[in-house]
Amino acid sequence: MTAYPQSETDIQPRFPADFRWGAATAAYQVEGAARTDGRGPSIWDTFSHTPGRVLNGDTGDEAIDHYHRYRDDVALMASLGLTAYRFSVSWPRVQPTGRGPANAAGLDFYRRLVDELLAHDIEPWLTLYHWDLPQELEDAGGWPARDTAARFAEYASLVHDALGDRVKRWTTLNEPWCSAFLGYTAGVHAPGRRERAAGVVAAHHLLLGHGLATQAIRSRDADAQVGITLNLYAMATATDSDADRDAARRIDGLQNRFFLDPVLCGRYPGDVVADLAGVTDFGHVRDGDLSTISTPLSMLGVNYYTRYVVTAAESHANVDGHGGGGDGSAGSPFPGSEHVAFTHRGLPVTHMDWEIDAAGLGEVLRRVATDYPSVPLYVTENGAAFPDEPGPDGAVDDPSRVEYLDGHLRACADAIADGVPLGGYFAWSLFDNFEWSWGYDRRFGLVYVDYATQRRTPKTSANWYADTIRRWGNGG
Ligand code: NOJ
Repeated sequence: MTAYPQSETDIQPRFPADFRWGAATAAYQVEGAARTDGRGPSIWDTFSHTPGRVLNGDTGDEAIDHYHRYRDDVALMASLGLTAYRFSVSWPRVQPTGRGPANAAGLDFYRRLVDELLAHDIEPWLTLYHWDLPQELEDAGGWPARDTAARFAEYASLVHDALGDRVKRWTTLNEPWCSAFLGYTAGVHAPGRRERAAGVVAAHHLLLGHGLATQAIRSRDADAQVGITLNLYAMATATDSDADRDAARRIDGLQNRFFLDPVLCGRYPGDVVADLAGVTDFGHVRDGDLSTISTPLSMLGVNYYTRYVVTAAESHANVDGHGGGGDGSAGSPFPGSEHVAFTHRGLPVTHMDWEIDAAGLGEVLRRVATDYPSVPLYVTENGAAFPDEPGPDGAVDDPSRVEYLDGHLRACADAIADGVPLGGYFAWSLFDNFEWSWGYDRRFGLVYVDYATQRRTPKTSANWYADTIRRWGNGG
């Protein structure tokens, strides 16, 4: 095992005593058991079983079999000293067709999981939607259909009725940008539609579903802590030219502000609405929607991986790392701003070809705290893929991931020292798992998974994280 920084002379970052030290996963990426106990098909089942959509034809049918191995998995979390675990509920396990009464067997899995976590003093952080829309709802129009928002709130109520007595932390949506623009505009995620306007309309209905679900949960439990998780990017321009600056404004607009502004300020950013003039007239937005969408949050989840370095382009360019194993004919996930390209600044990259830029996380946190004050923040995902393999002794040494996590956690501590209300950090991911259109080819885990045997092997980074929680936790 490679040594990691641990000397007496290390500058010890300070974290609040109640800081949450977590790790995250998502249902389709880890559970497997795709046809067990009455689970219905989701858009990711359909997409991954469609040839050419996912690298190597991988699917989440078995994934890492967390559905059956959750007890051992929770014991592993406890051995690492995690104080919180972020997971998602599979909508089609609870409502196999996306409508109607709950499937008790599906809910029972989450009851068992939550009870196991609580028995180990690990706080459950539950995400309601991490991209697995029941296929029948897609067949009825998917997120571009307004009714899907109402269905989502109904599903949220069913989950809360079953688990609200033991789960206090609720995240409605994970990264709605991806659901909307990778799923309906670029077509590189399920359901694989390539319609420019559909992504914009889907984004609105996702946010409406978020607002309706937030209200439904609050009406059941006034003390529930409810939030949303957005994937936010630090921004840079390739040059100082006006064209590059405008390109960066557009991408920042659609990626960051198009979600932050409605949720936290109750309006869409005017410049982005103007950029989208040739795409949609926003006729899908009804009176009262934005006040529902901006129902006050208890917390905002920030997923951070890298910085976009933006430049104006002659013709459309795809976004690095989002394409995956698809057939290469993806559209741009930025409708109305197709003449934009993404470049690198020469920093080291991860296996996703994303530049490693810990300072960007600090920038994002400070920016959100400044521009959208008074909402508590949590880093609900941060991490890196590297092509890890066991050595001859079976150990998996991943010094690059240790360095990545160390740098980003230090950026968090600096932000907290500057007054950013950051309450926790969740590493992505606890385990290697199904990385969407990249299948099992990209490993984000702190724990290595041998997919042939399902054997779990903590990597050096898992041991480092456990040590770090011990050293930096409890108020430093
Ligand atoms: C964001 C997503 O929420 C998660 O599902 C994904 O695996 C990671 N980023 C890495 O791409």
